[in-house]
Amino acid sequence: MTTKDDVLKYLREQQGDWISGETLSNRMGISRSAVWKQISRLRQEGYVIQSTPNKGYVLSEIPEMLLPAEIGEGLDTSVFGKQGIVYEGEMDSTNRKARDLAVKGAPEGTLVVAEKQTGGRGRRGRYWFSPRKAGIYASLILRPKLPPNEAPKITLLTGVTVAEAFMALTPLKPAIKWPNDILVNGRKICGILTESSMEMDAIHHVVVGVGINVNTRKFPDELKEIGTSVYLETGRTFDRVALLKEFLRRFEEHYRNFLSSGFGSVEKRWRELAVVLGKEVTVRMIDATCRGRAVELDRDGALIIQEKNGERRKIYSGDIQIHGK
Ligand code: BTN
Repeated sequence: MTTKDDVLKYLREQQGDWISGETLSNRMGISRSAVWKQISRLRQEGYVIQSTPNKGYVLSEIPEMLLPAEIGEGLDTSVFGKQGIVYEGEMDSTNRKARDLAVKGAPEGTLVVAEKQTGGRGRRGRYWFSPRKAGIYASLILRPKLPPNEAPKITLLTGVTVAEAFMALTPLKPAIKWPNDILVNGRKICGILTESSMEMDAIHHVVVGVGINVNTRKFPDELKEIGTSVYLETGRTFDRVALLKEFLRRFEEHYRNFLSSGFGSVEKRWRELAVVLGKEVTVRMIDATCRGRAVELDRDGALIIQEKNGERRKIYSGDIQIHGK
């Protein structure tokens, strides 16, 4: 914990009551001017801290930002978000940053968060609309001891986790569109980009990036018909920090269960939340397109499509269009 985080902790503990500069300086073993310096830094971050000469300081407003101190406050995980949170107001892409950190050896559980992305990446070279302070743009570094062919399951697991976090904290009824889109009323509210570094028989790291449209009010023309946000669906703004914390807590739990006991429980949940199974779909892959019924989720997380001629195809990655209702 930094000195600044310590000052914040003491201010928070007061729950709206004043604390004198002298008490703070005694408790922390630093000078009163050092306390003042940390108060100024917190104010620069957006915390509203009132001060008067005879009463001291009181914390009266917490900024609507994904600040590490806010994410870490009461975060009920043991590793995710506890191994360092890298935060910047603006980043090109949290996935890009997380990959660089992973290559340099950052541990499992390292979290990268930004208020805005200038080069937010989507699947298949697309961009991810990432306006300032509207969504959650976050990437987590994982180092699972799994054979590489198990890696796609992490994307499915992430989808289940985001859907559950929505159900826990919002009135939304999300659905998962294989492999990784979270939809509400047929529109995309969250995208997941999983990028891995692996060898033939081992995974070095996996970066799981989630883009969640929380308080996004307006999408650019090309996304208007396909994108939505928690705000647009409910008419209310939501606490992004609370949603991110809920996601991290559930993600760690599912991930641990997956590593220790296999994919069974997550798969069951995925099937309950998925919208593609049993539907007539068209899948666009990089080099081909196929149409048929989505009949099964294979053991490794791939989707099995049965074409009209009865032939079964195993799809690892692609864009799905669902036909009919
Ligand atoms: C998709 O549906 O195409 C995936 C979108 C993933 C977007 C998130 S936002 C945080 C992380 N950083 C990125 O550059 N992309 C992911």
